[in-house]
This record gives sequence, C-alpha cells and structure tokens, in this order.
Amino acid sequence: MALQPVLVVDFGAQYAQLIARRVRELGFYSELVPHHFTAAQLMAKNPTAIIFSGGPASVYEPGSPNISAEIFDQGVPIFGICYGFQLIAQQLTGEVAKTGISEYGATKVKIDSSSVLFKQLPENYQVWMSHGDAVVAAPAGFKVTASTEVTKVAAFENLDRKIAGVQFHPEVVHGEYGLDVLRNFLSNIAKLTPNWSADQVLEDAIAKVKSQVGSGRAIVGLSGGVDSAVAAAIVQRAIGDQLTAVFVDHGLLRTGEREQVELDFVAATGIKLVVVDAKEQFLAALAGVTDPEQKRKIIGAQFIRVFETAAAQLQAAAPTVIDFLVQGTLYPDVVESGGGASAATIKSHHNVGGLPDDMQFKLVEPLNTLFKDEVRNLGGLLGLPTKIISRHPFPGPGLAIRIVGAIDQSRLEILRAADLIAREELTAAGLDSQVWQFPVVLLADVRSVGVQGDGRTYGHPIVLRPVSSEDAMTADWSKLPYELLAKISSRITNEVSSVNRVVLDITSKPPGTIEWE
Ligand code: XMP
Repeated sequence: MALQPVLVVDFGAQYAQLIARRVRELGFYSELVPHHFTAAQLMAKNPTAIIFSGGPASVYEPGSPNISAEIFDQGVPIFGICYGFQLIAQQLTGEVAKTGISEYGATKVKIDSSSVLFKQLPENYQVWMSHGDAVVAAPAGFKVTASTEVTKVAAFENLDRKIAGVQFHPEVVHGEYGLDVLRNFLSNIAKLTPNWSADQVLEDAIAKVKSQVGSGRAIVGLSGGVDSAVAAAIVQRAIGDQLTAVFVDHGLLRTGEREQVELDFVAATGIKLVVVDAKEQFLAALAGVTDPEQKRKIIGAQFIRVFETAAAQLQAAAPTVIDFLVQGTLYPDVVESGGGASAATIKSHHNVGGLPDDMQFKLVEPLNTLFKDEVRNLGGLLGLPTKIISRHPFPGPGLAIRIVGAIDQSRLEILRAADLIAREELTAAGLDSQVWQFPVVLLADVRSVGVQGDGRTYGHPIVLRPVSSEDAMTADWSKLPYELLAKISSRITNEVSSVNRVVLDITSKPPGTIEWE
C-alpha cells in the first residue's frame, strides 16, 4: 500500500523542497505538490497532513496563488508557513495587511509557553523571517501563540481543527528550534506517527522493483556516481542476476573515471558489468552543438540508443527480452525537470527530461522520491563502500555541460587536465568532504590576453565552481582557503596549455545553477 504523505503545497517558495526534506528527517513521508491542485486532488493523495509553503506573492493581490477553501473542511491537519500562514488567515476570515514594515533575517520571537506548537521551547528565541505582508488578526477560534516586535501575530493554532501556522521559516537552518516546531505540529497537533525510516524505505523500494519487474530482465546504466550505484544495488537485491549493469564511456568522462567504476563497483557488488565504448558516437552527435538544452537532449537520446544496442546483444546471448531500464533519478531531478511540483523546466536532466519519445524501455526508478542524503543512507544500508557513497555528484552528461561552447577532443583534453589538478589539490588539502561538488568549467569560446614565459598568450579561462549544498536544490559557493585556490590556479596555468586565466565562481544557487549549462 502506498505510504500516506504529508503533502507540502508549493506556493513558489525557494524553500518548499527543504520543507519536504525536513519532514522526512523527522520520520514522516512527504511529497511536494503544486498549488494549483484542487482540494479533491489533494485529498486523493490520502494525506496525513498538509503544509502550505511560503511564496513570493501577496495574498491579497489579484491572481495570487490560492488554495480551494474546501480543504479546510476535510478534517486533515494543516500547517502554514509565511505565505501559507497568511493564506490560512485570509481564508478563515482573519486579516492580512501590508503593515509597511517588513522583517528580513534573524528576528527575536516571543512565544506563549502554553502553546502546543512551541511546546518545551524557550520563551524568547531567534527565528528566520522574510516577509512584507503580515497577519494582523488571527481567524476566529485561533489562539495567537507568538509575536515579534513588529509582528503581533507571528504564529497561531487551533487544536480542535488541527490547524496552525507561523510567519517565520522553521525549515531553514538560520533560525533556532525550527525542527522542534515542525515536530510539534506533526506529532502533537496533527498527532501523526512516524512512517519513514531508512530500513523501511529500502524494504519498500526492493518490494516495488520486484513487483514491477517480476521475472523480466533489466539493465542499469552505471555512471560512477552514488545515485546509479544505489539504484543498481537496490535492483540487484530485488531481482539478482536478472540485472546487468552497463557503463557507457561517452568520451565525456573525467580522467580515471571509467577505471574507477569498473574497479569499485564490481568489487563492491559482484554485479555483471558490460562496458560500452561509445566515444565516437557521442562526439559525432554533439559536433558543433553549443546550446545547453540541445546538448542534454542529444546525450539523453544517445544513452538510450547505446542501452538498446547493449540490450539487443545481451538478448542474443540469452533470449529473455530486456525491457526495463534502471535509472538513479532523484526527487530533485524530477522536480527540476518540470515533472514535479514546479512548472518551470530549469534543465532537462538527461535521465528525466532528455529521454527520446521513441524509447522502448520501461523505466525503473527506485530513487525518484528520494533526496540525495537519503540515497547515501540507503547506500550504507546496502553495504556499498564509503568511497562510492561519499563521491561528489557528477552529472550524467559529463564534461559536455562543463564546456561552454561546442565540444571536441582537444577542448575535452584541456578540461580534463584542469579538472584533474583541481581534484588532486582538493584531496591533498583534505577538503573533499567540505564541498558538495567541485565542477571545473572551460569557457571554450572566450579568450583573453595573458603573458606567459615572456610572450603574449591568447588563451581560454577555466572557471572553478566549488559549492556547498545539502541537496543541490540550493547551494552556496564554497569558501575554500586562498592558498588552495592559488595552488590550483598556478598549476592549471602552468601545466595546461591554452589556459591563461583561472576564475572563481562566487554565485549561489539561486540565482546560478551548480553546473554552467
Ligand atoms: P544544477 O546545475 O541543476 O545541478 O544546479 C544540480 C545537481 O544535478 C547535477 N546534474 C545532473 N545530474 N544528469 C545528472 O545525473 C544531469 O543531466 C544533470 N544536470 C545537473 C549537478 O551536477 C548537480 O549535482
């Protein structure tokens, strides 16, 4: 039976995914849904509770995202955050207004210690605020349970109706006791029992794959990253040697990557592994292409063509049809490719939006409701070595989306050499675990003047893009030590011909994405 979710309704907040993650951290299964879902659509998901996220709009502006009022009559517990809090107030005949004073950042809140939402929390503590509008009157029957100097109604609750809300953001780490507030809502107001643990997730995932694939055969594309490794290990647990792993060398890999996968993964799992050399095929298909989305679509299609060929060869050797393809697609990939709650397609992740329409395989995606840290946990439970579990993410389209401009062999060589230096130096400094990942990007169509060895050069810039993140949905640029950056820079300009400049990308996500394309 499908797990009953805590639904997080996304009102366009930067933090909606974070709310879903926090709820899971607390042991409750959660899913994101878009705000245009009707009450009937929400209830069809059989939610245990619903959380309205924040969002950039004003509740009283015409056309601002709303929620159908019937949802409040279903008896399902509801929690509102920021915009979601104001929406509850507005819908249940409280009052929201532009007070003229906005609050942004760390703010002291004073709570009513008899409140269930703030049970066992200090009377005064620091929360994270980000709002212009404010609730000025709580709905009838609701008790106001927190205030700040400028916001008189910073939280309210109605225990009979199991509805509560807060003006601040309990999901972000910048405020104190955020998880306690969420836990108090889920456990003490909504009165839910936790239904989400790593063991259970693993058991469910294995059972789901068993029932989907049955006695069929599947192949899994290994990329060397943790996602495909964990997906493969789950499916192997479920269907044993009905699974064959395929590693595609598309010519867009980093130095040493292919050898590493062959060694580590086979040693850890004993899986049947076929390595396909498809360098020429990929590079030919990508020749002259500069548009990032086009690159992604081409790569997605080429991957499938390679898998089809590999499947045909495996079938020729043993006649059962291979009609399943396993992919390590994660929940954020689904969301960011436009398949989840948010309507906008930011990028077609090759394993989601980049698949060709005429694909013959049925997809098996055991991780598509999970976040990265959950996947790493499962990897541990499955006995995968730390070396695989803690690897930095590397995108399926590989170096193709780290060369800004068209891709060719010589550009790939330049990027590989620079990338290897950055990786070597990060490891030598003992800082691998300090960054989420460290893309190195070649601006192949940009040139600048330099001076090297007494002569003028006209070379390409390399961009260093080390980032820190919890789940790649948001990220910050990593403040690596200057000495390390200086060493990487001087080694790259000394050792990699045609690079005469190294720059550091100091953009967070948003507004930037992690990869440049
Ligand atoms: P962005 O650039 O969207 O990246 O901020 C978020 C995370 O996803 C990785 N990424 C991909 N992974 N296929 C993948 O398997 C893809 O097409 C793809 N595009 C980006 C990226 O490295 C980062 O970890």
